[in-house]
Amino acid sequence: MSEKKSYLKPTIVRHSVGVTNKFGRPPITVPQDRIEGLTIGELTNLHGSPLYVLSVEQLRNQYRDMDRAFKTRYPRTQIAYSYKTNYLKSVCSILHQEGAWAEVVSGFEYDIARDLKIPGEKIIFNGPYKSHEDLIRAFNNDSMINVDNYDEIQVCEDISVELGRKLSIGVRINMDLNNPPWHKFGFNVEAGHAFDAVKRIQAGGKLEVVGLHIHTGTYVDDVNIYSMAAQGLVNFYTYIKNQLGVTLKYWDIGGGYASHNTLNWAWQSSEYTCPTFDQYAEAICPILMNGPFQGNEAPQLFLEPGRALVDEPFTLITTVVAQKRLPGGKRGIVVDAGMNVLSSVQWYNYSFQTAQDSGLTTEETVLYGGLCMNIDVLRPSISLPPVRRGDHLVIPHVGAYNISQSWQFIYLRPAIIAIDKGNIHVIREKENREYVQQGEYVPDEFSIS
Ligand SMILES: Cc1ncc(COP(=O)(O)O)c(C=O)c1O
Repeated sequence: MSEKKSYLKPTIVRHSVGVTNKFGRPPITVPQDRIEGLTIGELTNLHGSPLYVLSVEQLRNQYRDMDRAFKTRYPRTQIAYSYKTNYLKSVCSILHQEGAWAEVVSGFEYDIARDLKIPGEKIIFNGPYKSHEDLIRAFNNDSMINVDNYDEIQVCEDISVELGRKLSIGVRINMDLNNPPWHKFGFNVEAGHAFDAVKRIQAGGKLEVVGLHIHTGTYVDDVNIYSMAAQGLVNFYTYIKNQLGVTLKYWDIGGGYASHNTLNWAWQSSEYTCPTFDQYAEAICPILMNGPFQGNEAPQLFLEPGRALVDEPFTLITTVVAQKRLPGGKRGIVVDAGMNVLSSVQWYNYSFQTAQDSGLTTEETVLYGGLCMNIDVLRPSISLPPVRRGDHLVIPHVGAYNISQSWQFIYLRPAIIAIDKGNIHVIREKENREYVQQGEYVPDEFSIS
């Protein structure tokens, strides 16, 4: 007996199939039916939906491309992967295999790096709040610690007394580079705060400044901002070298490099606006090379990329669970993944591709996430071809922040798999209720007898 088809209310939609008009032909939707040669259906049959999929080769290639672009222009470059972007152990480990060091912003992240056998001296410890215990551990392991504020300087000085030795530190600085400027972190250069901080640290006699750190923002697709930051680093280093006799072992120009995702408010697609690693490197390295040192004394240059390394290698597979007609006539589609596993929909105009051939017709659609929450809208307006319940929509470039910022809400979080040379590896199992509720208790007083 053939399967009964589900009922869909008929509607009239104006079509312009294949018609050339003054804007050219309407876009043809090319289905993305495979990842790394494996069909979407195959992957969801094995591991469910929604499903995050990592392409290992793509991750390695992103790293290698960035490393090459900078090392050919500034040989003492070292990439320290920004853990918070995606601290899945497999992701960090693959990047460490490629040669990355770790950039962490909490004791929790520090422990992940140590657990992966990263030696302390290959860990950079940043952030506005590092606990006393975490700092002691990091100093004892000879990690690079970039101080953020005077309170932290005081804590580091106390630790110097506790450990009975002078401690090396880096200082995070900020400059008026973007609009609005990033003033939350570190000491401002233009206001003179950065110079005062270095002077105060050096005068205290317990700490020694050996590094400078700046992170100009996130998704910075204007390479001029990096050029200005690099020039600012050179100027500031020259000044503290002349005035205070500081010699840097490293300078760290942070992360922020854009990925191939288009921001919600962007005028143009990231295809046209996202700089290449070569363009970033060209904007930074020649300027830094003019710093106050001979070539062989160049400080080590740290980069702390996050999204530019891990966004593109990850794809999220979703499944259509329902569709409806909205009062204004627009179509609504509901998929089984919500903003709890795709929090970057706040920033990114993600592309959603069908996994099946759905013809040439497209229709303006509101794409809803599956959470029972009105704000769970993945795209308020997107042109999509006809789909049915059970069809898949594939979202490329989802690796940055979505997984580390995902939250368990209403549904359990999906499995995460990696595809490497045709082999599938589960790198995080689908969550289960026991895991979510572990550590919860119902005291006898609250129990139903
Ligand atoms: C200090 C620091 N380094 C690196 C990064 C990584 O940034 P992104 O993912 O934009 O490259 C961040 C993120 O904001 C950061 O705060």
